[in-house]
Amino acid sequence: MARHRISWASVAVACVLAGPAAAQGATCANFTGSTAKDASGQVNLPWRTDFPATAGSDPAMWATIDFKDKWREYLAAVLATVKSAGLKIENGKASMAPGQRWWIAPWMDYTNAGREPTHGLTKERTPRAGDLAQGAPNGGQIWAVGFYNAKGAQRLRTVFKNPCNPKFTKGQVFAERTASFKLLFTDLDQSVAPYLAGAPTINALIDPAGADGSQPPSGRVMRPLRLLQVDIAVRDKRATDTGWVFGTYVWRGPPQGDGLFDNLVPVGLSYGNDPGVFDTNLRESRINPDLAGLLYARPGRAVMGFNGRANGPADNKISGCLSCHATSQWPASLKGSVGTIGDNPTPAQVQAHVTTYFKNVKGGSLFDATVANAVALDYSLQLQTAFVRLCRACQQGALTGSTPQLCRLAPSLNLGANCRVTPAGDVRAAPQAISAEPLPRQ
Ligand code: HEC
Repeated sequence: MARHRISWASVAVACVLAGPAAAQGATCANFTGSTAKDASGQVNLPWRTDFPATAGSDPAMWATIDFKDKWREYLAAVLATVKSAGLKIENGKASMAPGQRWWIAPWMDYTNAGREPTHGLTKERTPRAGDLAQGAPNGGQIWAVGFYNAKGAQRLRTVFKNPCNPKFTKGQVFAERTASFKLLFTDLDQSVAPYLAGAPTINALIDPAGADGSQPPSGRVMRPLRLLQVDIAVRDKRATDTGWVFGTYVWRGPPQGDGLFDNLVPVGLSYGNDPGVFDTNLRESRINPDLAGLLYARPGRAVMGFNGRANGPADNKISGCLSCHATSQWPASLKGSVGTIGDNPTPAQVQAHVTTYFKNVKGGSLFDATVANAVALDYSLQLQTAFVRLCRACQQGALTGSTPQLCRLAPSLNLGANCRVTPAGDVRAAPQAISAEPLPRQ
């Protein structure tokens, strides 16, 4: 039935957006619960999933720039590769040029935070009072989509070779010069964050206004979202303690030039977590002083990340880009969550927070080696999120067939040999709706 409802208009749009590359690779036929299905029941995201077998020789202009001294130039060189892929936001749609070389990860289209059908956006943390701007109330939605370049997509190709049974082997890492970027959008507007006046806007199928936490995808409605932040992550061996450089941009109005890239202002960069640094004398983060008073150093938000570590406006000020990503492993660590710490912590609380959460984990090493069977996922939280959702789908019956091997590495999921069956052989009840899941990036 659903097939008759594929409109040629929607097929044509998909082709214009992504050209012949729109072919959906890496999807598992046993999975029926995708949150990215459009009105015709198909998943037709305008992005590439046909992961390349070889990385080719895409330029990596950043590789010769010193990210410690010239951090803005470094980020700009990565952003230039996004610009040259023809990223545009026009008429309520984000798109890239046909044949461009950025890919999205599979298996993020499940749970309440799962990808929506128009742009493959996933739901992220709810901003808290003061996060985005002075006087901003608690609440609002952040939705995002992340991409990997060819080096990164090559890794996705091996991981999802069998999309019903992904594998990430111990010791595997992303190749040098892997780059990833992520577009973050918000349903808040200039009435909450004045610097968003005139920001590029897309329409997407998201939660209704005021629905801030975890909501069932069945209630999603088409609503506008504004570009807020562009995140960047690069595998760079010159970051000797972590292997990664993370940095971010904010969209700051009023619109100028192309209204997209010409409005992106670098917020900060980090190549390490400054472990053992309990005050604000950080060496491994850079922050743009021009944004003091707007994004930080103002009432409601003193810092971007903890004690001044690099982080974005959408992020929790007690965390940092690198520290959150360093926790990526499968099975995930319960200690991976940033926890809570008040605005005026005692020195002992600061010390405990920095010691647990701001370690320098070398890419490919485990954040928490006490987790049985754990494999490090080399800073990729898309992979960790994908694996969580894959196993959730198996547990809840949205994925059928044999239980993916990696899901069996997490005994807490209590999965038997086949999806929806416990090790004791009881069949789990079919889900009424996708069960509550914490949003990523808390
Ligand atoms: C508290 C946790 C947290 C913090 C802080 C955080 N991220 Fe992420 N990030 C995530 C999660 C979870 C995902 C995967 C889900 C998604 O993409 O929506 C992700 C995905 C990404 C991706 C896509 C590739 C990947 O590694 O999965 C990039 C790039 C990225 N983040 C960059 C950044 C940058 C830059 C910052 C700081 C400005 C940052 N992140 C801060 C949790 C975090």
